[in-house]
Amino acid sequence: MKYTSLALAAAFLLAACTAGVKQGGPVYLAVTRSVEERVADALPRLTTEEKVALTHAQSKFSSRGVPRLGIPEVWCTDGPHGIRPEVLWDEWDQAGWTNDSCTAFPALSCLAATWDREMSLLFGRSIGEEARYRKKDILLGPGVNICRTPLNGRNFEYMGEDPYLAGQMVVPYVRGVQENGVAACVKHFAVNNQETRRTSTNSVVGDRALYEIYLPAFEAAIREGGAWAIMGSYNLYNGQFNCHNKRLLVDILKGEWGFDGVVISDWGGCRDDDEAITNGLDMEYGTWTNGLSGNASDSYSNYHLARPYLERIADGRAGTKELDDKAARVLRTIFRTSMSGVPHFGSFNSPEHYAAARRIAAAGTVLLQNDGTLPLKVPAGGKLVVIGENAVKKMVVGGGSSNLKTKYEITPLEALQEAFPAAEVIWERGYVGDTSSSYNKVDTGQDLSDPRSPGQLLHDALAAAEGADAVVFIGGLNKSKGNDTESADKEDIVLPYGQDGLIEALAAAVPSLVVVNISGSPVAMPWADKVAAIVQGWYGGSETGHALADVLTGAVNPSGKLPFTLPRTLADGPLKTERQFPGIRVDGEKWWQEYYDEGVFVGYRWYDTQAIPVQFPFGHGLSYTEFDYSRLALSRKAVSCAGSFGLDEGTEEVLRVSVDIANVGDADGAEVVQLYLAPPAGGVERPVKELRGFEKIALASGEGGKVTMSLPRRAFSRFDEDAHKWVVDPGTWKVLVGSSSADIRITAPIEVR
Ligand code: GLC
Repeated sequence: MKYTSLALAAAFLLAACTAGVKQGGPVYLAVTRSVEERVADALPRLTTEEKVALTHAQSKFSSRGVPRLGIPEVWCTDGPHGIRPEVLWDEWDQAGWTNDSCTAFPALSCLAATWDREMSLLFGRSIGEEARYRKKDILLGPGVNICRTPLNGRNFEYMGEDPYLAGQMVVPYVRGVQENGVAACVKHFAVNNQETRRTSTNSVVGDRALYEIYLPAFEAAIREGGAWAIMGSYNLYNGQFNCHNKRLLVDILKGEWGFDGVVISDWGGCRDDDEAITNGLDMEYGTWTNGLSGNASDSYSNYHLARPYLERIADGRAGTKELDDKAARVLRTIFRTSMSGVPHFGSFNSPEHYAAARRIAAAGTVLLQNDGTLPLKVPAGGKLVVIGENAVKKMVVGGGSSNLKTKYEITPLEALQEAFPAAEVIWERGYVGDTSSSYNKVDTGQDLSDPRSPGQLLHDALAAAEGADAVVFIGGLNKSKGNDTESADKEDIVLPYGQDGLIEALAAAVPSLVVVNISGSPVAMPWADKVAAIVQGWYGGSETGHALADVLTGAVNPSGKLPFTLPRTLADGPLKTERQFPGIRVDGEKWWQEYYDEGVFVGYRWYDTQAIPVQFPFGHGLSYTEFDYSRLALSRKAVSCAGSFGLDEGTEEVLRVSVDIANVGDADGAEVVQLYLAPPAGGVERPVKELRGFEKIALASGEGGKVTMSLPRRAFSRFDEDAHKWVVDPGTWKVLVGSSSADIRITAPIEVR
């Protein structure tokens, strides 16, 4: 009997093979083979149809696996600071599950403001655990687009105006996520620095600005962070849509950088059948619903990389070379994530995750100004008056695709009431801003309507402030249209809802007024010299209130630093013309054209070089203690400039910088020691200084320590777009070390031959 069945089985197998149906049976698990061996084993077993099915979505956030071979589907999830609630198969709206309320971590602008790689690793690990627990394979984040204009609606999701800061801060996040067998998908690649007409604007950028400003954070995520996925952006560059942009995806990403993961389109970002095949796109999502508006119950077989692709292969217009590459990359991603064979289980809504959210949000909080009024002193039986909508408005909901449904969100008012149980804590609205409370059917349950006029609101706020021991205004922006949100940019950096007038009036009545600005992008602060203290708070997620109260009460000594400049006015910035922002129509061009005429002069690179005074500079942030800098020491290998060198040769260390730091104040704290390089005078026009190193050091009161930073050759380089190489200019350079870009404490010259 046994013999017969064995013979039958062998015969069947033989017949099956000869019949051309690929051999069935499960593909190998990790335990016995490397990912590459498993890809090589699985790929030839797939039919053409199965390979094509891997390259496009089957639902809003998933794509097919290979059911016949036991290869699972691929599930993606937003967003960069929390796991988006489950949505319906074909809809943006949440599906109403009752088990998907997540931990809302701070927005990445807050993470950047910590200037702390440890915080970034903690963030990545925590959000990676939540993604794994929710059985998601690709996390659609982090975003690292440079803050080119303060008006960009999505600045809150990104990591500031400096490519080195963004690059250093994104690497640990990526590693932390991927330790959980979840792919980080860095986005939005590339030169996608606004929301205005984001699907129809062509970014016209010179190679020098591209390589020095707009690529480095992505390069770091890929080459140092080892990101397994990257998302093409909606806009065009060089006249091609970025979800299938040959220069960006084939020449630079997969060519120069050797990227072996998957390129995913933004939702609806794939716009062309042929380019999708040849220009480096591996997974197409969100098409038809054009990813941006409306929902269409839809036959996914109409996608660009679906029936049109099969037709081109069948009639010979397309070969299968690109298909094999796409399918191999998708298989590699699956073998790195859901089929890694390593038992990742993740965790969700854990006390550790909420504690991490609170710690990161506090570490990113920036003390901009303080006459000693902070930390708050409110005696037992005293009176604390809190004024402003952002003291109570829940902001985890909204903002676009990073919208979250969280288990709870502690507001600043709740946290301050907890922090001063023996005091009378009164709240006054002060102003009415955004009274909406839901997004994609996720609802905060708040009713923020208020019938009072602005005059009445002001009167009531001033009346409440009478006789208070402390008065804190908490305002800023929110996640509504025209504020910090996806798919729209701001009109100006002036605070909305009449807040400037309100703050001025409060300051006139309350000399010790503390102002907290909660925003994810720069705002103007014309009243800065009229108030006692200013704090830059962020969208801190579930624990935003506790984190802010921790800093205001002194439970946490603030150590955050600005990841972008706070200019006095928008007009002081580098974008002076329509053609620079938000772009113009040009005869003969189908799409809007936007010219990055300012080149590399973005953020402090502009304000410093033009010597334009700003409200608060890049890298600025105070502490409740003081730090002293001394003994700057340079030890170096010859920085032989030897003309120019290739993209890769710039990585070896050529200079080691050390500096002694002492905490000379009476509070324990942490300092972000920043290192800038000033190039030799003359030669090619370049920024007067650029950030090339930073380290955060915690020091107890009275304690001293040493910070050491090493600079690779790339730190001394500029990109020569004619030679397409990095070049080092000889001459006398200056090493500048300080507490912000404008607070340089100690310098040393260095000769570069
Ligand atoms: C959105 C965003 C992108 C997001 C994707 C899926 O339009 O641009 O960041 O991950 O679509 O929601």
